[in-house]
Amino acid sequence: MNSELLFTGGTVVTADSIRPADIRISGDKITEVGEQLVPGQADVVDCSGKHLFPGIIDPHTHMGIPIKSIWSADNFATGSRAALQGGVTTIIDFTLLKPGQTLEESVRDRQALAQDALTDVALHVNLTRIDPKILKEIPDRIADGTLSFKVFTTYKEAGMMLDYPQIETAAKIIAQIGGVLMVHAEDNAVIGKATARFAGKKLTEPKWHGESRPVEAEVTAIRQMVKIKARTGCPIYLVHLTSEKGLEAAIEGGLMVETCPQYLLLDQSVYERTDGAMFVASPPLRTPSDCEALWKGIKTGTIQTIGSDHCPFCRKDKPANIPFQEIPNGMGGVDTLFPTLLPQFMDRGIPLPRLVELTSRNPARIFGLAQKKGNIAPESDADLAIVDLNSRTTSWPEQRLSITDWTAYDGMEAIFPEQVWRRGERLINDGKLVKETKGKFVPGKTPDNQSI
Ligand code: URP
Ligand code: ZN
Ligand code: ZN
Repeated sequence: MNSELLFTGGTVVTADSIRPADIRISGDKITEVGEQLVPGQADVVDCSGKHLFPGIIDPHTHMGIPIKSIWSADNFATGSRAALQGGVTTIIDFTLLKPGQTLEESVRDRQALAQDALTDVALHVNLTRIDPKILKEIPDRIADGTLSFKVFTTYKEAGMMLDYPQIETAAKIIAQIGGVLMVHAEDNAVIGKATARFAGKKLTEPKWHGESRPVEAEVTAIRQMVKIKARTGCPIYLVHLTSEKGLEAAIEGGLMVETCPQYLLLDQSVYERTDGAMFVASPPLRTPSDCEALWKGIKTGTIQTIGSDHCPFCRKDKPANIPFQEIPNGMGGVDTLFPTLLPQFMDRGIPLPRLVELTSRNPARIFGLAQKKGNIAPESDADLAIVDLNSRTTSWPEQRLSITDWTAYDGMEAIFPEQVWRRGERLINDGKLVKETKGKFVPGKTPDNQSI
């Protein structure tokens, strides 16, 4: 195949602009973007009537991780195949720190598994244990291209929680190396208090999952993070933010905020459905007014990214009749992230460059991938999602590539990309997987939080 291609006649959407332009790629890189480019030796890909987006970067996936008594349903191979269908060409997943392991070993283990992915893959380092050896190792992770470190203020029973002084100790080091601290912000003590109210009562349905993890848990943990940021200067990125009050606290403290489609498109009423257990995720879904407050954050720029928190399960994994405490928490969404958001942005009158900012440029900048990813410009990787904005459909679930048999967004309007190109290779055509070459590990370089 000719290594030079010219995508002609389409509308190019970046975080900065939306304009008619052609894109020339050579091998795996974009070499030129402009109007009416001359094909020369290039093969032409006619994109008339289509919109061309940079490949989506999902900054928050969990491929094949242990949750409660089972594993999330997707591994890197199956989850990345689904991701491509939704225009995602890079996922950022998390290491798993096993007992006794060094951080480096945890990175190597995860990199080995990630070799099965069809998307490109970057990694965040899970800091679920702190000891002098681990702290000493943090600066060395620059060598692996992993500069973002994730901590949990809850999940004590799973052995994943750090206390606030431990988080502050790590934040000081991460700040010195120019890294990013990512936080799952739900205060464990607040959750403990809320859960104690259920003792001895038969309140086990999925809706009590929400009651057991109130907004107050999110706000309390965020306030602690604000103090840690003020004392250490460490850039702090909150994963999966859910609530209006949480957003207010984050804005006040200058924290970076990620939310997820589930907190924008769904509310807590779904817990009353017969498949309510499928929506159990932590933090839980909130009220319609929280959803609207998050949409306001999207519009006004106080939210920086949208990630899927992809942690899918099949119907059999979450039977309806088990107590919420035993339901494996998490929902899928790497494949539906972009397709479900696109019509929402259009209907809400939010300019499409903002969608690119949230799902491509900002994740690339925050996690140090911007030299290659998140833009349509010379020298960027040739990662493209080509979309017909008139192809809205509600009957997409039948055509999903995902191995899971359930989606939270069933019946919602979605626009799936027609073609998805990852580093110059067309992997999705007519919405179908046509090629299965493997992705690459993309090391993060210095994050750029200043321009966010
Ligand atoms: O319930 C969720 N979100 N499961 C995935 C793990 C996490 O906390 O992000
Ligand atoms: Zn989390
Ligand atoms: Zn997560």
